[in-house]
Parts: sequence; structure tokens; C-alpha cells
Amino acid sequence: MSLVNHLKELERAIYNCYFAGEDSPPEPIFNVLANGVRNGMDFLVPIDASDELLKMLNGEGDKGKGEKAGTDENIQIKFRHLVVNDDGEYFIPLFTGKEEIDKGQPTVSISQPVKTLFEAIDNWPKCIGYMINPWDKKIVINKDMIHMLLEYDRSAFITIVRGGVLDVHVGAIVNAANNTLLGGGGVDGAIHKAAGPDLLKECKTLGGCDTGEAKVTKAYDISFADAIIHTVGPVYSGSEEDAKLLASCYTSSLEKALEGGFNSVAFPCISTGVYGYPLDEAADVALTAITEWLVAHEGILMNVYICCYRDEELDSYTNILLS
Ligand code: APR
Repeated sequence: MSLVNHLKELERAIYNCYFAGEDSPPEPIFNVLANGVRNGMDFLVPIDASDELLKMLNGEGDKGKGEKAGTDENIQIKFRHLVVNDDGEYFIPLFTGKEEIDKGQPTVSISQPVKTLFEAIDNWPKCIGYMINPWDKKIVINKDMIHMLLEYDRSAFITIVRGGVLDVHVGAIVNAANNTLLGGGGVDGAIHKAAGPDLLKECKTLGGCDTGEAKVTKAYDISFADAIIHTVGPVYSGSEEDAKLLASCYTSSLEKALEGGFNSVAFPCISTGVYGYPLDEAADVALTAITEWLVAHEGILMNVYICCYRDEELDSYTNILLS
């Protein structure tokens, strides 16, 4: 599996958390952070740079231009503070990238491993936590969360979202296609429209797709995704085969996501539109298939979003989860 791009996955999980609303579960964000602690994820941390430090960072200093300052330099680096009350308590801002820093006042920053940052939190009594990307969609991680994250090991989570697959930011969007893979109505039409004509050009090279199977293409003009996984659900007939084929759409798509190194996937409610699959039955098949696949693939980072484009789809999932 390719190296996880933790910062991109974290930006996606944060975006989706804001999209889904304040009662959205934080697990997708925790999954990426905890996975990042274990696998060397870095944040950009703004510093209050003294002139001496700036010279060192620019390779100037009294040793002449270009020479690296030796590791015995004990130049103090001070992280920027976001003071929040009269007692001087503060958050330390962390950024997933320069784009996020540039949404506020420019600053010098250094890259720091999230593991180091989390493990150091108790060294600063007045620090009450970190604020990730404070100038836009900020996420506050307080000390209790940090201690929890250092022990947290879940890496997969299913989030039910009221919205379409084009409303969330993920590595791979799943399309409910037909056997020709040459586009259609419903979500298929919406995805082809959003991706642009190059998607159809690539689909024409795939030779179609059997029901229950999945094939991957680029995402083209859908800039917030890396790929589209096209799967073909069964046209509902009431036979036992329907549930097997529908379950296979979910597991085949997850297999393709794993193979492609995608760590977040958005599913529509496959076959429940034009193909007439009853919503409650389809939701039960989907949740069972996804859960069983995730249990069988312990430890991988996989944030799964089930996108309910219609209220009645959300009702079906809510009824199952509440029962
Ligand atoms: N945007 C996002 N989601 C949508 C949209 C849209 N514009 N239109 C429908 N959906 C959702 C539906 O609410 C449902 O959750 O996509 C899911 C699947 O519904 P359909 O798109 O009707 O797909 P399906 O029932 O699997 O039938 C597939 O329909 O569009 C054709 O080419 C497609 O022949 C294939 C058949």
C-alpha cells in the first residue's frame, strides 16, 4: 500500500466533519491523527523566530553563508501561542500545510512530528492543547484528547452522511454505474458531469464491468478526490442473488480502494435508485458487507462515508443503527 498522505487525509476528514455538522463523529479525524502518530506524520508549527534563528535557518549566521549551524547550537525555538484567556492559557497552532498558514498572517514555521508534539504537551502547564488550521476549518485537540490519541488504535470508521458522494472529500468516490460504464443518470450522470469528458474516454477503454465487480479510473475534474471506483449494482428482482451481488459491490470497491492506496471512500446507496433495491434491505446489506470487510482488514486506515442523497436513505440507515 502506498505511504499514507496523512495531511491530505486529515484535511479531508476535517472538511467532512464540518460538512456533516457539529454532531458529526470525530473518529475519522482521530483515525488519521492516531495513524499519523504511529507513522511519522508532521505538522507545520509557526515559531517566534529570533534574528539569530532566522540567520541560522537561512544558513547565514557568524559561520558565513551556507554553512549549517552545528547541532550543538542551543538556539531556543519558541512555538507561537494563541492565548485564549486572562490566565495566559494558550493553544499552539498546527498547520497541515503552507496554504492553511497563508490564510492568516505570514509566519516562519518548522516541521514537527505529531508524535513529538503530542508527547511534549504536559511539559507546558499553560498550554491547553493544539489548534489545527486555526484560520479556517479549525479543530481543537485538548490535553485529554491528546492523551487518548497516544493510546488510540482504531483505524477504520463508517460515517453516515446526509449528502451526495460529491459533497464530501475522499480519496475514492464510488459510482453506481451500469455494465457499460458509459455513463447514465442518477449519481452516474452527476459524477460524469463533475469529472468531465476525459472520464468517459477512460471508461471506454475498460470494456464494461460485471454486476458486483468494480473498476477504477482517475477523478479528472473532481479535484478533491484521487479516483473514482465504478461498481455495478444488481437491478432488484427479489432473488437471493440480489443481496450477494449488492454486498459484492461494496467489498469489491473496498478491495480496489485498498489496492489503490486510498484511505477514504464515499459510497452512494448503490442500486436503491433506478435499480429499485428497497432502501431498508439495501442499507442492511451495505452495512453488513462494509463492517465485515473492515473487521477482516484490521489496522488499515480506511474512513468510509455512506452518502445518503435522499432523506429516506438516511432514515433507513438510522433505523438500522438504532435497532
Ligand atoms: N448526486 C448524488 N447522488 C445521487 C444523485 C446525484 N445527482 N442522483 C442519485 N443519487 C444517489 C441516489 O440517491 C442513490 O443513493 O445515488 C444512489 C444510487 O442511485 P442511482 O444513481 O439511481 O443508481 P442505481 O440505483 O444504482 O442505478 C444505476 O442508474 O444512473 C443509472 O447509469 C446508472 O444504469 C445505472 C443505474
